[in-house]
This record gives sequence, structure tokens and C-alpha cells, in this order.
Amino acid sequence: LGGGPLAGRHVLVTSGPTHEPIDPVRYIANRSSGAQGTALAAALRDLGADVTFVTGPASVPPPAGVRVVRVETAREMLAAVEAALPAEAAIFAAAVADWRVANAGVQKMKKDGSGRAPALEFAENPDILATVSRLAEGRPRLVVGFAAETETVVDHATAKRARKGCDWIVANDVSPATGIMGGAENAVVLITDAGAEAWPRMGKDAVARQLAARIAAALG
Ligand code: C5P
Repeated sequence: LGGGPLAGRHVLVTSGPTHEPIDPVRYIANRSSGAQGTALAAALRDLGADVTFVTGPASVPPPAGVRVVRVETAREMLAAVEAALPAEAAIFAAAVADWRVANAGVQKMKKDGSGRAPALEFAENPDILATVSRLAEGRPRLVVGFAAETETVVDHATAKRARKGCDWIVANDVSPATGIMGGAENAVVLITDAGAEAWPRMGKDAVARQLAARIAAALG
């Protein structure tokens, strides 16, 4: 058995985008690469944790040495997370689609020759982070959310922490000019009950190692 401060501790990490089908061949997605969630899962593994990694269709491969559960949609991700609990800590790094297509086609949608485009209807997806944060029974001791913002990052992330009921929010500015989404670096603000801590810009691997160390310290 390996050692490390998280040896034998079960930690859940979600990562990557979700794909929400429009019809059997088309989907709605987002630009998340899964890089930060993947780095975090690897860093937690390196501290000895028993990691369940629930991942949407990411553009980077999952780390070795973790239990990988592959999903496509937000609803599948929620089911996989619920099946993976209990865990001592749960880190929600996935960029989950807020909406799914309510009138997704069972068959491929076809042009009907009328010149009219189809109208998509949307339904709200379950909020996985909020659902797990509010569990009356079996809530992980530490629940961490991410907040990708493009403006007033600390205010929005602080409000998000309260709204979702999680313990920490890792906030970052994903404005296109930062190059963070899909890039190798991240500049995060860690929001806890003690306030906001701005970390210097560093590689996503370094952010992951520092976060993993903080998680290990918080679990004791
Ligand atoms: O509300 P917003 O999507 O900005 O919240 C981001 C945080 O919530 C992330 O930690 C993300 O993984 C999580 N989330 C979730 N389920 C959703 C939407 C977001 O777990 N449906």
C-alpha cells in the first residue's frame, strides 16, 4: 500500500465538459479541456488518495492510477457521482452544461426544404455541486466547486459559494484574453469561509499540487 497524507482516503473529482445531444449525431458542448481537473486528480493520487475521476468527453487523457468513470451528459455525470459516493472530499472541476436540449431528436434532424431552421428548446440540467453540497446524509466533509468567471471574479465566486452550499470555491478568470481556458496556466482565487486568497498565475499542475496539499491539510 502506498503512503502519503491521503492514503486510503476516497476523493471524487469531476472533470471535462459535458455533451448534450441535439440528435444522435450532434451535440452542444463547451471549451473545457479537462486539464485542471485531470491535474488535480493526478495530484491527489500522488498524495495517496483513492481517486474516482468522473469525466465528460475531455481533450486530455485521464490520469493513470485513478478509477475513471466516463460520461457524456450532465445527468449521466450526476448519476455517476451519486454512485461513487461516499467520499471524504468531492472536487467539482467539470464544466457542466447548464442546459440540455429538451426536444432532442431521436433520429438525425433533416432539412425539410422549407428554408425554416429547427428551434431548439432547453431544459435546465441538475446542479451536481449544489446537489452534493446539500446532501442531508453522506455529504463529503469537504466539497469544492470551481467558478469560471469573466468579470468581478471574487464577488461572483463568493456569491456562488453561498448559493451552492459548498465549502470552497476555486475561481478563475476565463476571459479570452487570459488564455486560461484550454491553456497550460491558471490564475485562481481560493474562496473559503476565511475569505478570498488570490494565488499567483502558475501552471495548472502547480495549481493542482497546491490545491491537493490544501485538501490534505483540511481533511487532517
Ligand atoms: O454555476 P456554475 O456553472 O458557474 O458553477 C460552477 C461549479 O458548479 C463548478 O464546480 C461545476 O463543476 C459545478 N456545476 C455542477 N453542475 C452543474 C453546473 C455546475 O456540478 N449543472
